[in-house]
Amino acid sequence: MSDTFHAMWRSLRPIGRSDATGGYRRYAWTAADAECRVWFQAQAEARGLDYEVDRNGNQWAWLGDPSRGDAVVTGSHLDSVPDGGAFDGPLGVVSSFAALDELRARKVSFRRPLAITNFGDEEGARFGLACVGSRLTAGQLTREKAYELTDASGTTLPQAMEAAGYDPSAIGPDPERLARIGAFVELHVEQGRALDLTGDPVGIASAIWPHGRWRFDFRGEANHAGTTRLADRRDPMLSYAETVLAARREAELAGAVATFGKIAVEPNGVNAIPSLVRGWLDSRAADQESLDTVVTGIEKAAREYADRHGIDLDVVRESFTPVVEFEDALRDELGRLLGGERPVPVLGTGAGHDAGILSGSIPTAMLFVRNPTGVSHSPAEFAAEDDCVAGVTALADVLEGLACR
Ligand code: GLV
Ligand code: MN
Ligand code: MN
Repeated sequence: MSDTFHAMWRSLRPIGRSDATGGYRRYAWTAADAECRVWFQAQAEARGLDYEVDRNGNQWAWLGDPSRGDAVVTGSHLDSVPDGGAFDGPLGVVSSFAALDELRARKVSFRRPLAITNFGDEEGARFGLACVGSRLTAGQLTREKAYELTDASGTTLPQAMEAAGYDPSAIGPDPERLARIGAFVELHVEQGRALDLTGDPVGIASAIWPHGRWRFDFRGEANHAGTTRLADRRDPMLSYAETVLAARREAELAGAVATFGKIAVEPNGVNAIPSLVRGWLDSRAADQESLDTVVTGIEKAAREYADRHGIDLDVVRESFTPVVEFEDALRDELGRLLGGERPVPVLGTGAGHDAGILSGSIPTAMLFVRNPTGVSHSPAEFAAEDDCVAGVTALADVLEGLACR
């Protein structure tokens, strides 16, 4: 089994990889994304699976007739954050195909239809909203809102889809498709060190923290960096910088996390005071109340700093995902199917996933594979070969239990 895993891993590895950083730049509806999609289709066809793209651009590879219903679906995503690691997303897709190979080697018979998926635009790196493919399908993103999504160069989502050869006119909720699914299981590299600390190669997800993205626009006045007296400036960078520190402070107080990881500056000249500093806040907490406390605290501080420097401030919530508690019954079933001498650890995560989005519509569960450093969304993201193989075996055991017995 590890042979097929490795062959797939090797063939996927060069796609969208930056030689300069070793990180991945697989953004939705770009050339790298198209190559990933060709790769997925080839894997499906090589296994004699029925390949289709749904109305929202998500890819599906079916074994058995989907119209029979109660399907077992597994998969993840192939897109990446800017300079992302090799594992976040692809490990789930590659492991899904490898698990199917393993089940065929075990000569099991399938009682339920099985599908492998690649959900589009999970990371939201290009259009700013995460999980676009699964959100559309689950009806958590309307067609109208999706049509308004725009990338940094002004290209809209429908324009990008069209340029990639897909028809955007049909995007929207897909309840008939979801109604045919009995369970969705997503395998993912762990994005923390919980499994490293417990000494287990594989874990089961309990919950996903509530999380969201907020855009802070600080507007001041562009002026000459050399001739404008400090007292005469309306410099939005100052209020922005103070807000970053406030975010750290508020997150620490609430036991949460808050990150300004993306910024846009206008006019972006080294010798000009900025007219606009736009910063995107990503914040997450174990519960809604803590998240509200953090974000309210950061916004309040930002408004005080903005006032002090004569800056106009707009804060817009661009996306939000409430807490996800994965369904007890399916989670316990996974625990039973994987139960050995000691129980498989059950862990929560601060990372968002398509499985979290779909959990509002269908029973979903997740498996995590140990990440020895916990580093993710970085070229340094890693999982050891033996652990990847353990992940494939666990996924195969789960799929066998769900689809074959
Ligand atoms: C996706 O990986 C996210 O948690 O932002
Ligand atoms: Mn990710
Ligand atoms: Mn992911």
